[in-house]
Amino acid sequence: MTCKILVTGGTGFIGSHTCLELIADGYQVLVLDNLSNSQESVLDALEQISGTRPEFIRGDIRDRILLDRIFQEHDIAAVIHFAGLKAVGQSVSQPLNYYDNNIAGTVILMQAMQQAGVRSLVFSSSATVYGDPQQLPIPEDHPLSATNPYGHTKLVLEEIMGNVYRSEPGWRIGLLRYFNPVGAHPSGLIGEAPQGVPNNLMPYVAQVASGQRAQVQVFGQDYDTPDGTGVRDYIHVVDLAQGHVAALRYLQENEPELLAVNLGTGRGYSVLEMIQAFARSSGRDIPYTIAPRRPGDIASCWADTRLAREKLNWTADKDIQEMCDDAWRWQSSQS
Ligand code: NAD
Ligand code: UFG
Repeated sequence: MTCKILVTGGTGFIGSHTCLELIADGYQVLVLDNLSNSQESVLDALEQISGTRPEFIRGDIRDRILLDRIFQEHDIAAVIHFAGLKAVGQSVSQPLNYYDNNIAGTVILMQAMQQAGVRSLVFSSSATVYGDPQQLPIPEDHPLSATNPYGHTKLVLEEIMGNVYRSEPGWRIGLLRYFNPVGAHPSGLIGEAPQGVPNNLMPYVAQVASGQRAQVQVFGQDYDTPDGTGVRDYIHVVDLAQGHVAALRYLQENEPELLAVNLGTGRGYSVLEMIQAFARSSGRDIPYTIAPRRPGDIASCWADTRLAREKLNWTADKDIQEMCDDAWRWQSSQS
């Protein structure tokens, strides 16, 4: 039987890559996205790559009437929920927007799911819920905290989902804690397309390589790390997308469970290592300067990946060079 999966935020960066993996695995995909941070043309690219165009509804997860209609008109087996706002700095200046979009939106989505009897949910959480890590690699039972409104939305949503899970039998919920998603589909047809100045390292470096920006600012060279710059667990978005399919399958095939699981590679790279790797992929010089630390940044962060391996039978296998090669192919096609 073909299951239809509702993918909120499915035209976004991680959602679009996950649609491809779902299609490759035989699922039928229904995308709901308000296009606040993505383009409808992503669907053309998905069709070109996979031969299948996902069904698409332009709409907002906060629109309960629309959601009720979707659940009535479609036989939905599970929801993969990417829709939300994700810029840390913007969340500090516009907290209410973040609480409304991310928290209120998810509550409305879960109410509609509950009413429709759909109780399988895969949620985009983040390693940001670990705050400043007390141990490395970070296991899932590490204490949780939030340092900005964006992180707070993820923390609160994890708690809300835990309470919903405990309130009523039958919910199957995956809290997928992503580390640092980067890269792009190897076709070069979909990737990350930030609006304005990129907040994150990889898209910024890509734009410097392509000549759109003059140089990278390296935020701090005095961290307690091998070269003094911040260390992160970068994960290829295609690996991450496959992690979602593995989580969905796990939830569908096992007894109801609330599963919080890290999706990372278990390896950290510094800012300077990333710049060097990108220079190799692009064959371009990537000028950089050392700037002050960015407020709220931590020194190092990488995942304990054992639970994902044991429970989901999933590991990330694409290395840093592949991440940069694919990000460069996508970037080169953009200008
Ligand atoms: P993205 O902005 O590319 O995708 C999010 C999509 O959701 C966009 O297409 C946007 O138009 C849509 N959207 C936003 N609000 C909506 C609403 N109210 N109703 C309907 N659609 C809405 O972001 P992404 O990088 O693909 O991230 C997906 C999810 O993963 C987000 O929840 C994000 O917080 C989480 N996450 C991302 C990262 C990262 O570094 N990219 C890291 C950890 C967690
Ligand atoms: N960095 C720079 N210069 C830049 C941008 C970033 O030096 O122009 C450095 C940062 O200081 C950090 C590293 O590059 O050391 C990575 O920074 P990113 O902004 O790419 O990623 P973060 O680890 O800060 O945060 C990301 C997402 C968050 C998410 C977190 C954990 O932006 O939403 O990963 O998943 F919560």
